[in-house]
Amino acid sequence: MAGSLMNGKTVSAAMREEMKQEVDRLTAKGVQPGLAVVLVGEDAASQVYVNSKHKTCLELGYYSEVHRLPADTTESDLLALIETLNGQSTIHGILVQLPLPKHINEKAVIDSIAVAKDVDGFHPVSVGNLVIGDESLLPCTPAGVIELLKRHEVEIAGKHAVVIGRSNIVGKPVSLLLQRENATVTMCHSRTANMKELTRQADILVVAIGRANFVDRSFLKPGVVVIDVGMNRLDNGKLAGDVDFEDVKDLCAWITPVPGGVGPMTITMLMYNTLKAAKRIHQIT
Ligand code: GUN
Repeated sequence: MAGSLMNGKTVSAAMREEMKQEVDRLTAKGVQPGLAVVLVGEDAASQVYVNSKHKTCLELGYYSEVHRLPADTTESDLLALIETLNGQSTIHGILVQLPLPKHINEKAVIDSIAVAKDVDGFHPVSVGNLVIGDESLLPCTPAGVIELLKRHEVEIAGKHAVVIGRSNIVGKPVSLLLQRENATVTMCHSRTANMKELTRQADILVVAIGRANFVDRSFLKPGVVVIDVGMNRLDNGKLAGDVDFEDVKDLCAWITPVPGGVGPMTITMLMYNTLKAAKRIHQIT
């Protein structure tokens, strides 16, 4: 059985076309969705991400502000900027690029973002709403995983989904979202005993453990759907997922490539969240 590729670029392109129409509709009502991205310091990967977010905003017709602050910015100066953005009517989404320099308390910063503008979905109130199933802005990568599954018509309800990784950014929220879609969910992590016994039961396997090529075919049941959230930079400069793609691909019903699978969905879902936030703030249905 040859695994079919789940194409994040195609799904992203389709969603972006849909969003452009919505942006036009809102802008005609006098509401142009606006995103503010804040970058502290000069981390190379973060700069690439931030530039890409800005470019996507312009392509889709959003208002975009990028605040590039020096690495020695104080926590109180950063909090003051967020306070300004919280009250700024042209801005509907605020994203502070992580990681922050060590002298800044990440939690204090995330907590200071207005929940209505929390397009990362990292604020404790957003997380709490996700846990209890209330309306909230969903974290982008996990929401992108669900969107990829749905748009490839992969049945989630009643399936056994196994998630490897328990981070706040991916593992925990994707487990909750899969459960919300009526999957039976098992979470595995670095301390799980007999992990393969569990993963071999998976109909859907989401891998977000941050170790290059961690999952090989010995983890899988034939016909599984594999979602690889990993993005690991190898010594040779190449990007590798958490799944050994070449080793497993013939066993899978569907598999996401790296790059070109989950990756493109993250910014697309950020744009989706910003649009949703703008509509909610202005009570447009
Ligand atoms: N750095 C890497 N991924 C992310 C993300 O999803 N959100 C933010 N704010 N920073 C990141």
